[in-house]
Amino acid sequence: MSASNILICISGSISAYKAATLASALKKNGHNVKTVTTESALKFIGPAALEGITGEPVLTDMFNPGHEIPHINLSEWADLIVLYPASAATIARLRMGLAEDLLSAVFLSNNFRKPYWISPAMNINMLSHPAVVENLEILKKWGARIIEPEEGVLACGTVGKGRAPEPDKMARMIEEVL
Ligand SMILES: Cc1cc2nc3c(=O)[nH]c(=O)nc-3n(C[C@H](O)[C@H](O)[C@H](O)COP(=O)(O)O)c2cc1C
Repeated sequence: MSASNILICISGSISAYKAATLASALKKNGHNVKTVTTESALKFIGPAALEGITGEPVLTDMFNPGHEIPHINLSEWADLIVLYPASAATIARLRMGLAEDLLSAVFLSNNFRKPYWISPAMNINMLSHPAVVENLEILKKWGARIIEPEEGVLACGTVGKGRAPEPDKMARMIEEVL
């Protein structure tokens, strides 16, 4: 199996911790992994875990001295970009085409030249809200692959659809397309 460059984008969901396990699984399979996070994601998972696993700095800030035009460079570097987990707020930002943070700017600069996967993770009421449903429909129409959220016990205690797939399953799905 040849090594690929995989960019994991992480937004502010309670399941952000799963991204560290996904990064670890992909690294063990020999791939190069970088992570981009929103500011909120860093309230759920610390950069030390991601940096320790990937051997790369966690990228959050667009205006980071020493990283020239980071959003363009990251899009060029990646063979596949996966937004895991995708929060409702970040999904809305992507759908609006806003480029106010690094994660959103990477989405725009990639412009579906490389596969862009979105794995929503949220409460069932949020997931079924027309705003989120419509945003995901648009993103899918544009070319993103939406990873169907799974049913189960959600972090809020309710049972329903809204869980991001477990990291080992995501890793298998990624391997299948590489
Ligand atoms: C404990 C906690 C858990 C949360 N989990 C989720 C979640 O799973 N999905 C989601 O869309 N938002 C969740 N939120 C809300 C987001 O963190 C919030 O909308 C945030 O602004 C998202 O920012 P970002 O999309 O820029 O990362 C949670 C908030 C808290 C305090």
